[in-house]
Amino acid sequence: MTDQDDATRKAADLAAARIEDVRRRIGQLDDDALDLLFREARTHNGWLDKGVSEDQLHQLYDIMKMGPTSMNMWPARLIFVTTPEGKERLKPLLMEGNREKTMSAPVCAIIGYDVEFWRHMHRLFIRDTSGMFKDNPAHAETQAFRNGTLQGAYLILAARALGLDCGPMSGFDNAAVDKEFFAGTTVKSNFLCALGYGDTSKVFGRLDRFAFDEVCQIV
Ligand SMILES: Cc1cc2nc3c(=O)[nH]c(=O)nc-3n(C[C@H](O)[C@H](O)[C@H](O)COP(=O)(O)O)c2cc1C
Repeated sequence: MTDQDDATRKAADLAAARIEDVRRRIGQLDDDALDLLFREARTHNGWLDKGVSEDQLHQLYDIMKMGPTSMNMWPARLIFVTTPEGKERLKPLLMEGNREKTMSAPVCAIIGYDVEFWRHMHRLFIRDTSGMFKDNPAHAETQAFRNGTLQGAYLILAARALGLDCGPMSGFDNAAVDKEFFAGTTVKSNFLCALGYGDTSKVFGRLDRFAFDEVCQIV
């Protein structure tokens, strides 16, 4: 066995031990946790005058970053807009109906995806898979968008898990946001997510969801 094999085996054993430890401690989330994350969680349209600290943003990042992506490619790139100056840059690029609420949110995350995520594969994956994407920009973009979108969803769930509320938005000018916030990079904007403590008086009535049999099949 080479040193490399030995290190790989040890890392796998450690991973297995950690999974077993979590399984011993937690069978599944309780009803309160499921309510907080999904069942009673709502999309927010107004925000209380209560800030979100940089520490909270770091905590949020440290949770969301663990969500899985294909080959661990991690294409999401995030800008947390928190300052009045930052919000003013964003304001004209938003759909009219999204302006006021975004300006009143303590934070608006711009969730972007790097179409050249593959430059980091040698670090993020078990081997350098950059060759699969480098000369195939359409494939790279599909992968970046798919996995970057998943990461946006992880961000929403991580925020809810930390007791924050979210207001995701796609009503904005993507090209203009790319120019304003991602100029000179290979990052494109996907969607925005306001973060803070939602004003419950601004929440809409809950919309319908499909029942299992309408959209699911078990084959
Ligand atoms: C990716 C995404 C984009 C959205 N874009 C907007 C938007 O631009 N403006 C808006 O008011 N709501 C937007 N929404 C909010 C949805 O309409 C809302 O999440 C959905 O109706 C479910 O609401 P609920 O979580 O309160 O049940 C968006 C949601 C998502 C996930």
